[in-house]
Amino acid sequence: MPAELICFEPKCRERYPITEVIYSCPKCGGLLEAVYPPPGPSAEELKTLWRNRRTSNAPLDQSGVWRYRELIPFLENHDCVVTLREGNTPLLESRAAARYAGLDALAFKHQGFNPTGSFKDNGMTCGAAQARRLGMTRVACVSTGNTSASMAAYASAAGLTPIIFIPYGNISYGKLAQALEYGARTLQVEANFDQILALVRELAERLGIYLLNSINPFRIEGQKTIMIEMMDQRDWRAPDWIALPGGNLGNTSAFGKALREMKELRLIDRLPRLAVIQAEGSAPFYDLWRAPDQSRLRAVEHPQTLATAIKIGDPVSWPKALREVAISGGVVEKVSEQEIADAKAVIGKCGIGCEPASAATLAGIRKLTADGTMAHDADVVAVLTGNVLKDPDYIYRYHTGSLEAPDGTKIAPTFANQPVVSPNDMNKIAAILEG
Ligand code: F0G
Repeated sequence: MPAELICFEPKCRERYPITEVIYSCPKCGGLLEAVYPPPGPSAEELKTLWRNRRTSNAPLDQSGVWRYRELIPFLENHDCVVTLREGNTPLLESRAAARYAGLDALAFKHQGFNPTGSFKDNGMTCGAAQARRLGMTRVACVSTGNTSASMAAYASAAGLTPIIFIPYGNISYGKLAQALEYGARTLQVEANFDQILALVRELAERLGIYLLNSINPFRIEGQKTIMIEMMDQRDWRAPDWIALPGGNLGNTSAFGKALREMKELRLIDRLPRLAVIQAEGSAPFYDLWRAPDQSRLRAVEHPQTLATAIKIGDPVSWPKALREVAISGGVVEKVSEQEIADAKAVIGKCGIGCEPASAATLAGIRKLTADGTMAHDADVVAVLTGNVLKDPDYIYRYHTGSLEAPDGTKIAPTFANQPVVSPNDMNKIAAILEG
């Protein structure tokens, strides 16, 4: 049995060739996932193989995605792979952040160390490889920032034409700058993320453009390696909890799939629980998690949050994410703009730093320890999804007390670090520093 695409819906489970250009099940409209026969080598053999590859200079082995290629075997060969040495992101322990979260210890898996600054690179190297394998020449995505930067880089590196759709006025300049610099055709559409995604899904089919949003099952395969690499870094000791921000819920789906597959292959002996954190003004998955009827997600029509990466009201991957959180015995939590901003400043002051959406994890953990959901001595890994340089304007405003939530509420600069203006005078500067 070769690699295949299978409909995720339990009632359908229709199978398709791995080379079919589809993003959802043609029969029932369900989400698709890649399935494979089990790998040949045993768990112990795989662990040794992957550890040895860390000392190899071969580009595929140096990639923190393709190093684990036995668990993402959707290609017949790797000729179409373009790697920018994605993955290889650190696991950083922080006592100060743990204390803030109400935990004895806490580690951050920091995806902001990726080539374009976010976890999207893990998935994009796979999506771009599949596009090349299928003979596609143009690729497209809708993005609030990180996906566009990542797709632009990988598509251009692979000789594909990147086309990017972004909600007009709702993207950070750093990310727009990356997309332009990496050579993407960039369209700023006067609509929100969910509206543009619906449009682009149709457009991609009409114009024969390959869609690289996280609905694309091959991106999900790449994002699985975030969990695989994290377990490798922990010598295959599964933590109690993994906390991550939830937007379109591709990552939640990818993490859940990776953890299940690793457990089935006996690479780990138990499943960590997933804690998905959303922003209060953009929390349809939180509402669904608590709803008596979980058969349908009620979209938030006008999602609001300064954490633009998770400003998504109608997340496409919710059916997968719902199942993965349930299987893991996980939870879904939501946090306020103030909680995100303060958590972000704490992560910054640890010398680590991240973008607003990523900081939702620390804010969420703090809430979950306070209400007793997470034990204080739990072994927790929080995934920081993006780099501190994503929203410099947000940071400056927070520290100078001028940051406002989308509804106009002032965000208190709880951990403010104001820059000081001083005259060009040695004595006065000395007085400021000694004062
Ligand atoms: N964190 C960051 C830094 C992101 O960029 C995103 C998504 C998420 C979290 C949410 O992840 O969708 O897998 O639940 N950013 C998309 C983008 C929307 O366009 O870059 P998810």
